[in-house]
Amino acid sequence: MELQKDFFTYQAQTTKFAAGFEVEKAEGSYIFGTDGKQYLDFVAGVSANTLGHSHPKVVNAIKEQAEKYLHVMVYGEYAQEKPVALCKLLAEATPDPLEITYLVNSGAEAIDGSLKLAKRYTGREEIVSFKNSYHGNTHGALSVSGNEAHKREFRPLLPLVNFIEFNNEADFDKITEKTACVILETIQGAAGFLVPAPDYLKKLKNRCEEVGALLILDEIQPGFGRTGKLFSFEHFGIVPDILVMGKGMGGGVPVGAFMSSSKIMESLAHSPKLGHITTFGGNPLIAASSYATLKEVLESGLMDTVEEKEKLFRELLIHPKIKNINGKGLMLAVNLGIPEYTLEVAKRCMEKGLIVFWQLYRNEYLRISPPLTISPDEIRKGCQIILEVLNEN
Ligand SMILES: Cc1ncc(COP(=O)(O)O)c(C=O)c1O
Repeated sequence: MELQKDFFTYQAQTTKFAAGFEVEKAEGSYIFGTDGKQYLDFVAGVSANTLGHSHPKVVNAIKEQAEKYLHVMVYGEYAQEKPVALCKLLAEATPDPLEITYLVNSGAEAIDGSLKLAKRYTGREEIVSFKNSYHGNTHGALSVSGNEAHKREFRPLLPLVNFIEFNNEADFDKITEKTACVILETIQGAAGFLVPAPDYLKKLKNRCEEVGALLILDEIQPGFGRTGKLFSFEHFGIVPDILVMGKGMGGGVPVGAFMSSSKIMESLAHSPKLGHITTFGGNPLIAASSYATLKEVLESGLMDTVEEKEKLFRELLIHPKIKNINGKGLMLAVNLGIPEYTLEVAKRCMEKGLIVFWQLYRNEYLRISPPLTISPDEIRKGCQIILEVLNEN
């Protein structure tokens, strides 16, 4: 309890309601508390622990790199093995014209970089984003996020950002020859895991091409295999001009990146030179962890298990209190109708040894985003706990 007391006293808080759960260690699909209990993890650090906790290949990659060298130089100056291998493997694993990657330290930072890149390349000033989108909390990322309650107190933010409605083609006329880029999450996360309608993304990409705007897809959450493909845009028959990733990319370490064609990306290297710079982006330790994660996601066959696992969740989670389940693959949002009730369910699940969470803007949705490595038995065990809690009152 001393740890919890110090946590609330010395570590800046984001709400008045943090759980303050004390972690002893974590392994596979479980987090072990200092209370001696084990907790099945259906959240994976909010879609970040792609391969579960402390996957041996990830831990070994970090250890090996730590023994060779840590930080040696700012981003972009020295040729270091792991960042280069990571960027090369990303280029091989994604369709053209995605061929070159800029490595940064977090999702929000990658979003900021991608917006700068689009403005710099097109020479245009306006940005189109989406209502109810979430792209992170730096000023740039917050400016393109579509939830007024989260932004109001932090104005002024970036000017010339227009918000349109997800899945509404009627709004396409707001994308014009003045638009530098259209930025959206392939699957809207904080809004409750909303999936694009069939052909919506194709039509959106066409509109961008018509007016010469770049399409930026934020795959920070659905990327790295979470929907059964390396990136979820692969389900929808399009390729973005700029792809943004983070979260699950690191296998448990902080990272972000944006990818594009060489032609677009090179515009950050001149006029002015050093158009985007970072000290720790491309850090070798982080790159070693991300490379090991990417290699395992690509080679282990894990992505092929995602569809079956989604099916199992949907078969098991049938209950009169569940109104519907949004999402795709292993990013599922279970609608319990009432925010206060959903928070209570999450609390009760925790007491019974299961970690679930809720959606940032839609608290009535229970978040299920486990590690991709979760087993069918663990899925059954966790869903059993959820159903028990739903039966309680
Ligand atoms: C879709 C999406 N974009 C951007 C971000 C911001 O990433 P980070 O928290 O690493 O800055 C997140 C994080 O939750 C996200 O889910």
